[in-house]
Amino acid sequence: MSLMHELGTVLLRKLPAENAHKLTIKALGGGLGPKFRASISSNLAINVGGLNLPNPVGLAAGFDKDCEVSTPMLAAGFGFVECGTVTPLPQHGNSKPRLFRLVEDKAVINRMGFNNAGLNKFKNNLEKRKLKNGLVGANLGANKNSKNRVEDYAIGLKSLWGLSDYFTINISSPNTPGLRDLQNENAMEELLGRVSEVRAQLAGGKPSYPIFLKVAPDLGLGEIERIVEQSRSYGINAIIVSNTTLARPSSLKSKYKIEKGGLSGQPLFDLSTEILRQFYAAAKGKIDLIGVGGVSNGLQAYEKIRAGASAVQIYSALVYEGPGLVNAINTDLLLRLKADGFKSIAEAVGKD
Ligand SMILES: Cc1cc2nc3c(=O)[nH]c(=O)nc-3n(C[C@H](O)[C@H](O)[C@H](O)COP(=O)(O)O)c2cc1C
Repeated sequence: MSLMHELGTVLLRKLPAENAHKLTIKALGGGLGPKFRASISSNLAINVGGLNLPNPVGLAAGFDKDCEVSTPMLAAGFGFVECGTVTPLPQHGNSKPRLFRLVEDKAVINRMGFNNAGLNKFKNNLEKRKLKNGLVGANLGANKNSKNRVEDYAIGLKSLWGLSDYFTINISSPNTPGLRDLQNENAMEELLGRVSEVRAQLAGGKPSYPIFLKVAPDLGLGEIERIVEQSRSYGINAIIVSNTTLARPSSLKSKYKIEKGGLSGQPLFDLSTEILRQFYAAAKGKIDLIGVGGVSNGLQAYEKIRAGASAVQIYSALVYEGPGLVNAINTDLLLRLKADGFKSIAEAVGKD
């Protein structure tokens, strides 16, 4: 990382969390981000749920809610960028403050509540990047006051079909009351049924864009097997494990640990990796997995891969380490593959 970057990261850490985030988006949009190639080695390339990634490190949803900085984030070396969560209508989200940095814990608590500029704006931004290189996905959500939440996901698919390289059905944000209930068996049946119906209409017999499902790490006994089965039967191409947690590990030191919302970063690593392992055991290789939660270096990315993830995504570590982290993780992954005698990421998936 350059001195400018280290300085930038240190300065940003001193600002209130949400202002720092806005400033980062502005700086990246202005072309101030680092530049690395996404395809540093063909050994890092992998197919995940039908998506051919140049490397397995993606930007997790929530960083670029309105899809304003996908191009500079791809230029920072990400193998794929997930924009959103976007909801059909614009919404402000919860009242501020709603984003907290637990510096001592290398963690973040957020209760943003799907603040975003809505589908029209998101669509315009995706149209601007049409024909550009790199993979950009759309993470879809439902408006807080929607009368028909299932239909909100259908609206998202219809609006962005042909513009987004893949879609994520996000039913795991803890900050929209009742959203996680869509993970329940009957609700998921209705939601995934509608998604597969709309998808078939939109594809019209042609190959469809991949559709992923993003789940919470706070799941009860038996739910993992059931979610895998339902996802498979409705043609979901990969499961993203996981969103933030409502749990508060006893190890937390920061005074912000009492804040309501979803916890991410270091304290989420063990929990989300354990849940990922259980998903891998239930999936039996029949559905791909993307590991998210607390990844902040090459070793942790590799642990997720060996636990069963075909790719990883990161968010919170960027707050603490800056965007130079992406290239550092990919470089480190290459060394680890080589040391273990693997010729590709795919060979290492689920080896633990
Ligand atoms: C400030 C903030 C906002 C987030 N917003 C979203 C979101 O809109 N949609 C979503 O699916 N996940 C969202 N997430 C969750 C992340 O995508 C990711 O699943 C989670 O933070 C765990 O990864 P990490 O430990 O690397 O941050 C958000 C996370 C943070 C910290």
